[in-house]
Order: sequence, then C-alpha cells, then structure tokens
Amino acid sequence: MSTPEPDDPADPGESGDPTDPRFVNWLRTVAPYIHAFRGRTFVIGVPGELIAEDRVDKLVHDLSLLSALGVRLVLVYGSRPQVVEQLRLRRLEDRYVDSLRVTDAAVLECVKEASGEIRLDIEASFSQGLPNTPMQYSTVRVVSGNFVTARPSGIIDGVDLQYTGTVRKIDTRAIRFALDGGAIVLLSPLGFSPTGEAFNLTMEDVSSAAAIALDADKLLYLIEREGVPDESGEIVSELSELDAARVLESDVIDDDTAYYLRHALKACRQGVARAHLVPFRVDGGLLLELFRHEGLGTMLVEETLEALREARPDDIGGILAIIRPMEEDGTLVKRDHSLIERDIDRYSVIEHDGVILGCAALYHQPGERLGEMACLAVSPAAQGQGDGDRLLRHIEHRARRAGLSRLYVLTTRTMHWFLKRGFQVSSPAELPESRRATYDANRRSQVLIKAL
Ligand SMILES: CC(C)(COP(=O)(O)OP(=O)(O)OC[C@H]1O[C@@H](n2cnc3c(N)ncnc32)[C@H](O)[C@@H]1OP(=O)(O)O)[C@@H](O)C(=O)NCCC(=O)NCCS
Repeated sequence: MSTPEPDDPADPGESGDPTDPRFVNWLRTVAPYIHAFRGRTFVIGVPGELIAEDRVDKLVHDLSLLSALGVRLVLVYGSRPQVVEQLRLRRLEDRYVDSLRVTDAAVLECVKEASGEIRLDIEASFSQGLPNTPMQYSTVRVVSGNFVTARPSGIIDGVDLQYTGTVRKIDTRAIRFALDGGAIVLLSPLGFSPTGEAFNLTMEDVSSAAAIALDADKLLYLIEREGVPDESGEIVSELSELDAARVLESDVIDDDTAYYLRHALKACRQGVARAHLVPFRVDGGLLLELFRHEGLGTMLVEETLEALREARPDDIGGILAIIRPMEEDGTLVKRDHSLIERDIDRYSVIEHDGVILGCAALYHQPGERLGEMACLAVSPAAQGQGDGDRLLRHIEHRARRAGLSRLYVLTTRTMHWFLKRGFQVSSPAELPESRRATYDANRRSQVLIKAL
C-alpha cells in the first residue's frame, strides 16, 4: 500500500511556503483525472463496518468533492454490524444458511431500524457546511427512494430465508433523473416487492446490480482489507477478469475480500468498465485510488480480448515485429535477436487474439533497488488505447515485487509520456554503476526515474 511520501511530487506538502511548487504540481497532476471523471457514473459500496467505525464524515467530505467535480454518484450502504447490534439489544438469534442471514419478521424490523438510522446519519453528514471544513459552500442534495425491486431468496437447504432477498430490478430511469438533477443517489440494503413487502438485501448485491443496470463507469467497494494480494502477499493494483477468477480459486485471498471480488467480477463481466476494492481505513483512500496513477487498492478491469502476461519464447517473433521499425527510425535502441531470446523472462507482453500488441522488459541486478524498464513499445495500430499505461503499471508491480524502490527509463522521444506518469528528469550519473558503463553518450537519452 502506498501513501504519498513527504517528498513525493504528488504531495502538496505543508512547507508553509505559499509558492511551494509541489502544490501546483500536484494540482496539475490530477487535472487529467478531473477532466476524465466529469459526467461519469460511479457506484460506491459503503460497508456498515465503515459506518460503525465513525468514518462517515470523512468519506462524505471526499464524496462531496467528487460530486462538485461533476461525478455522478450512487451510494449504497450496508448495515451488517448495526443489524447485529439491534439483534443483540432485542436478544434475537442471528441465524445463517449458506452465509445468508435468515430474516424473519422480527429480524426485518432490526434491519429497517438499522438502515433508517444510517440513512439519516448519512443525510445529516451531507448537510454539513461549517466554515473551515471541506464542506464549506457544499450544497449536495441526497435522494433516496424505492429504486430497488427485490425478490425473496427462497428456500435454501430446506430453510426458508423469509425476508432475505436478492435484487430483481433497479429503477434506472428514476436514478438517472435524480443524477441529472445533480443529486447523489443513496440506496439502502433494502428492496421492495410488488406485493409491498420489504426484503433484506446485501450492500454488495445492490451495488453490483446498480452498477450493471446503470452501465456505470466504475463500481468502487470500500473494504476492510488493503485489496487483493498476490502469492507473496503484495497488493495487486490491477487485475484482469481472468486473473480475478484465478485468485478466487486460489487460497491467497480471505473470505471477505473474495466476497467483494466476486461481486466486482460479476459487474465487470456484465459491462462495468472498472471495479475497485479500496481500503476504507486509509484516510482519503477513495481519492488516492481515483487520482493517483498507481491507485491504492486493487482495480479490476473489464476483459477485452487482450491479455497482459509474461512473455514466452514463441512471442519473440511478435516482439520483433513491433520493435524493429521503431529501432530503424531510432525511437528504440537496437537489440540483438539473441539478446531478447536470452532475456525473454524479463519481458511482459500484451496479446490480442494471438497477436502481440505491446511489450516491456524489467532489468535489475541482484541487490540493487533501482531497476530499468526497457523496450516499452506498443504496436502503432494499437496505440492510444491505454496499453502503454497497462504495461507500465504491470512492470511497476513486478518491480515492487522484486524489492525495487525506483524504476528508470532511458528515452529520446517519449519523455513527456513518462513525465505524465510520475517519472522525473534525472541524469546518467544517477544510473546504477553497471548501467553507467553501457550508457551510450552519443545517443544522449534522457534518464527518467520514478519512485515506486
Ligand atoms: C509510448 C508508447 C509505449 C505509449 O503506448 P500507448 O498504448 O499509445 O499508450 P497509452 O494509450 O497508455 O497513452 C496514450 C497517450 O500517450 C500519448 N503519447 C504517445 N506517444 C507519446 C510521446 N512520444 N510523448 C508524449 N505523449 C505520447 C498519446 O498522445 C496519448 O495521449 P492521450 O491519452 O492524451 O490521447 C507508444 O507510443 C510507443 O510504443 N512508442 C514508441 C516506443 C517508445 O517510445 N517507447 C518508450 C521508450 S523506452
């Protein structure tokens, strides 16, 4: 998990110097995201645990900011710990079948009570406007209503779950109408049936169903853990649908995170472009995930026919087909076929339907904390669709896993692309000793370094 370091250029810092360039740099760094997010629809799933830990006000500050930036927000809250508390107060039994709560009439009353209270707390929080707080001048309107139609979950293993239900339909027209009017839509974990009954739903189900029905640009779950780990326990910043399915079959992930990931995967499979799992215990976690290139938690990306994977020897032909023309026009430095063959384990590729569309390699010497990303290239026909970005993120992840703390690139023509992605101008003197010896002074490549 990465939070801004004090000397991070993306950190506005608190130097007290009104002309501190870091503040302006930081604001400029986030500008592309502000442009990109305006008018987009994000569905955000907020668990009852976040509410129980008294974190609503801070979350509301961040959501109000997103709303002011033109993001269309649908907020779905959960109430699990609050319902447990209600059951405890009324000395009612909490029964589960297949990890679903059995909701009889008495339990449903607890669910309604917990849900009503949370809704009022959230609405109250959005109504703040005290001077010298992030809510000064904020005028966020919150709209909630009977937007979710539910059906009973029915009988499972011979037990009637009664008022436990699942989402049947989302009233997208009514939600869009409220969003068009500039309001934030607040959905509870309760749905209603045409027979006029209320059903107890899960926040995860309502969130994914709403994101799918609205064809949301993002579904974000705020979760207790840090994200989805890989085998070495490191949080993976980006997962494809295929990887997510693999993780769910493995035992590297805890049950809670797996539950969120399953809903995130379902949403991506049904057309939601991005689903994120973001740790709610990091102050401003949502903003860090959205406005930092490397994010904070784990982002699940809707599968296209493309696969990002480590290279194999039979990819060499495809890699050469991309880089040879770039070597000939001087964009990339010439590499021997045999060198690529020898180092093929260092390469990652993006493949589409059996065709290699992009590649990048990671080089580092044992014991060194500074590694090189080399040979980043995307086939001209596929450029401009984010593949370069995906390869960079993937190499960064590999580098972090290898224990590196910084990554450098040498480039003659692509400096701005790297600057936009958090690299900073450096000099050949900064290169590891082993690489300084082979640095071609005649080529005069720029050395750019990024802290991981
Ligand atoms: C750099 C490169 C890998 C980017 O791949 P990509 O898949 O097009 O990258 P993305 O889709 O993630 O990013 C595209 C954005 O980068 C911009 N871009 C592309 N090349 C650029 C360059 N040389 N300088 C600055 N920006 C550049 C595009 O205009 C586009 O901007 P937009 O999103 O505002 O429209 C690709 O252009 C390439 O293969 N270039 C030749 C090889 C090279 O220079 N490699 C780096 C040397 S190590």
